Amino acid sequence: MRAYDLILKKRNGHELSKEEIDFLISNYVENKIPDYQMAALSMAIFFRGLNKEETLNLTLAMMESGDTVSLKEIPGVKVDKHSTGGVGDTTTLVLAPLVAAAGVPVAKMSGRGLGHTGGTLDKFESIPDFSTDLTIDEMISAVKNTGVAVVGQTGNLVPADKKLYALRDVTATVDSLPLIASSIMSKKLAAGADALVLDVKTGDGAFLKDLDMAIELAKNMVEIGEGAGRETVAVITDMDQPLGKAVGNALEIEEAILTLRGEGPADLEELCLELGGQMLYLADAVETVEAGKETLKRLIKDGAGLEKFKELIVVQKGNPSVVDDLSLLPKASNLISVKTTKRGYIHKIQAEAIGLAATKLGAGRETKESIIDMAVGIMLEKKVGDLVNVGDEVAIIHTNEVADSSKVKEAIDFILEAYEIKEDAIIQPKLIKGIVDKTGVKIY
Ligand code: URA
Ligand code: CA
Repeated sequence: MRAYDLILKKRNGHELSKEEIDFLISNYVENKIPDYQMAALSMAIFFRGLNKEETLNLTLAMMESGDTVSLKEIPGVKVDKHSTGGVGDTTTLVLAPLVAAAGVPVAKMSGRGLGHTGGTLDKFESIPDFSTDLTIDEMISAVKNTGVAVVGQTGNLVPADKKLYALRDVTATVDSLPLIASSIMSKKLAAGADALVLDVKTGDGAFLKDLDMAIELAKNMVEIGEGAGRETVAVITDMDQPLGKAVGNALEIEEAILTLRGEGPADLEELCLELGGQMLYLADAVETVEAGKETLKRLIKDGAGLEKFKELIVVQKGNPSVVDDLSLLPKASNLISVKTTKRGYIHKIQAEAIGLAATKLGAGRETKESIIDMAVGIMLEKKVGDLVNVGDEVAIIHTNEVADSSKVKEAIDFILEAYEIKEDAIIQPKLIKGIVDKTGVKIY
């Protein structure tokens, strides 16, 4: 077999067999196929696509390119959740303890990555002394004892994706649906869960701006999951504004704690209940998704979710007092009000621009070496649908810089640009736009 012939075959629109895909991926990981051939193949895939079977085979080949985690020692159905992008998405911080409080084990492996805020790991590490540095065995025993653990990726998971994603990034082949779907799903399958709930974002702040593309991606991922024997449901959700109010690390931990107290932003709570309800349903803990949501509401009301959050913090060596005393979280020295110069209704809050503002403030990494400031970020005080007047505060910047620093000024510009304010009133957009599962697509 030669890489050249397989590139030609795909370029001409023909189907690649399982053996051919395995050959390409395994040799690429072993550096026996050079980047330039894989780049050409990626471009051929970008234009010709992959069918259902090819996409599944590519995903499995990537999953098998490195270590895979087995969670078999943990009793029960293990359900994982994944969100595709988004800014200020605080759902994992709420769902890990809340779903565990319902008796469904949550073994969460997360990456750090680059981004507007840190990843889920960074956010948890804003809790004083919290450690995400557990081995897989320590994670398994933590989950057996307390039902939940959130740990950094250890071992060599999906090296094929690390190489291929970096290559796609510089060859204009990131936004190919089968390549995105196989990239995400190979990592999720390697992390060992029995079932998956996917939160596929659509809108300005997502990398799939339009709903039809998001539905296609969701279908692709559900087919891969089901094809690999893991029950998979995708929820399509709105990203025409960031979720909740908080965009930052400690700020999002605070927002998660408030949500577990039943005092969080309505949109964040709504999405957590939907995703969590789906997770309980897939774990066979409830008869219907609706019943799952009711269970989670009860666990918020009676404080069991908060209690589980404390247990999670204890098992990961952090200070559980933050749950009762939010002042123990890192705090920025300076709060700066961002005031609008327009009057009208907020139609959109471009999540991308808010993300850039948060990065400017130091909440996220610009390069792998950047050090995150856990305390800083943005609170969105006004959201889509709100009416504002000239001079009204729309957001608050939390920073350790002085107010007239260039970073703060740039952040303010990004935030004001992010708010799309128009004269005409707007109907609140639906947060949950549809569900895709093995039975098909439901759009609300
Ligand atoms: N996220 C991933 O992990 N992979 C992609 O290809 C795109 C987004
Ligand atoms: Ca948030």
